[in-house]
Amino acid sequence: MTLDGAPTLAPPDPLPDLGDPRVPPRRLPAGLRAGERRSALRPLPAIVALVAEDLARAEVELARQLRAAVPAVGEINAYLAGAGGKRLRPLLTALGARAAGFAPADPEALPRLMCVGELVHLGSLLHDDVVDDGQERRGQPAAHRLWGNPASILSGDFCLGRAVWLAASTGGHRAVLELGHTAAAMAEGEVMQLLQAGRLDLDLATYFDIIDRKSAGLIAWCAAAGAWAAGEVATAEALARYGREVGIAFQISDDVLDYTGEKRVTGKRRGRDLEEGKPTLPLLLAMERVPDLRERLARGAPSPERVPALIDEVAASGALEDALAVARGRVEDGLAALDGVPASPWRDALRDLAFHLVERVR
Ligand code: IPE
Ligand code: IPE
Ligand code: MG
Ligand code: MG
Repeated sequence: MTLDGAPTLAPPDPLPDLGDPRVPPRRLPAGLRAGERRSALRPLPAIVALVAEDLARAEVELARQLRAAVPAVGEINAYLAGAGGKRLRPLLTALGARAAGFAPADPEALPRLMCVGELVHLGSLLHDDVVDDGQERRGQPAAHRLWGNPASILSGDFCLGRAVWLAASTGGHRAVLELGHTAAAMAEGEVMQLLQAGRLDLDLATYFDIIDRKSAGLIAWCAAAGAWAAGEVATAEALARYGREVGIAFQISDDVLDYTGEKRVTGKRRGRDLEEGKPTLPLLLAMERVPDLRERLARGAPSPERVPALIDEVAASGALEDALAVARGRVEDGLAALDGVPASPWRDALRDLAFHLVERVR
C-alpha cells in the first residue's frame, strides 16, 4: 500500500453544505414546542465547529487512504472525493464518538475511524452510479462516464477494502462485525431497489426496508462506531437507533430533493428517480392522491421532456410535504433514542444535526 507521503488531494471545504441551517418553525416535528426548539437549535456551522479539528484530520487521512498503487484507482477515488460531498458520515462518526467518550491516546485514531463511513459511502456511490446509470455525481459527470463501469466498480471495491482495514485497525471487533453486516445490507438494499424499478405497486413497507438497508444502516454504524470502539455497548446501541431513524429521514429527504433540489445543492439533475422509474416515497404518496397518475406512469418511463410537468404534479398533490412529515416523525424517534446517550455538547449537536438533515429540501 502507498500510504506514505503527503496527500495529493486538495481537501474539499470541510464545512458540509447542507443548505440553509435556519429551520422555519412551521417545519418542526409535531410534539415539539416551536419556540423552544427554534431558540435551542444551533446552526450547522456551530455543529461542525465542535469537531472541526477532527474533521480536518480526517480529511487528510481520507486523501491518504484513497491513494492506490494502481494509478487509475487513485485517480477515480480522487475524482469523486475531491468533488466535495457533505462529509456527513465523518461528522456523525465524530459526534457519536465524542458523545460516547471515545478518547484514545493516539490522536489519529478518531480521524481514521471517521474515514470508515466515508470510504464505504464512496464505494457505494461508485457502485450506485453504475447500477442506476447515474449521469452526475457531486456536480460533475459520474466516474463511470470517464473511466467505464469495470474500473469504477473495482475502485468502489477498493474503497470498501480500505474501509474494512481502517475499521479493524481503529474500531475493534464489534465495530468490524457491525460494518460487515451493514455493507452486506447495503448491497441487498440496492439490489432490492433495482428489482423494484418500474414497480409502481411497491408497498411502503418494502420502500422502508430498501432505504433502511441501502442508507440508514451506514448512518447508524457511523453514529455508533466510536461507542463500539470504546466498549460502551448500551451507548452504542442507543446511537445506532438514533442513526437508523435519522438515516431513514435523511434518505426520505434525499428522495424529496430529487423532486425539489437545485443541482447546486444535490449535485444531480432533478427528476432522475422519475426517469429511472424509481418509486420513492414522494411518488408512492402522489400515486395515492392523484387518481390516474399510476396508470399514466405504467405506460412507460417518462421522457426527460415530460419530467418537469410530472414533478409539478407530484408537488401539487401535497406528497412532498407528506413525505417530509414522515421524515420528521422518524427524526423524533431518533431523538428519543438519544436519551440513552450521556448528556454532552456532542449529544446536543447530534440532536440538532438531525433537524438540519431533513430540512435541507430546497
Ligand atoms: C447521497 O448521500 C446518497 C444517499 C445515501 C442519500 P449524501 O447526500 O450524503 O452524498 P454526499 O456525500 O454529500 O455526496
Ligand atoms: C444512494 O442511493 C446510494 C446508496 C445509498 C448506496 P440512490 O440511488 O437513491 O441515491 P442517488 O440519488 O443516486 O444519490
Ligand atoms: Mg440507487
Ligand atoms: Mg442512484
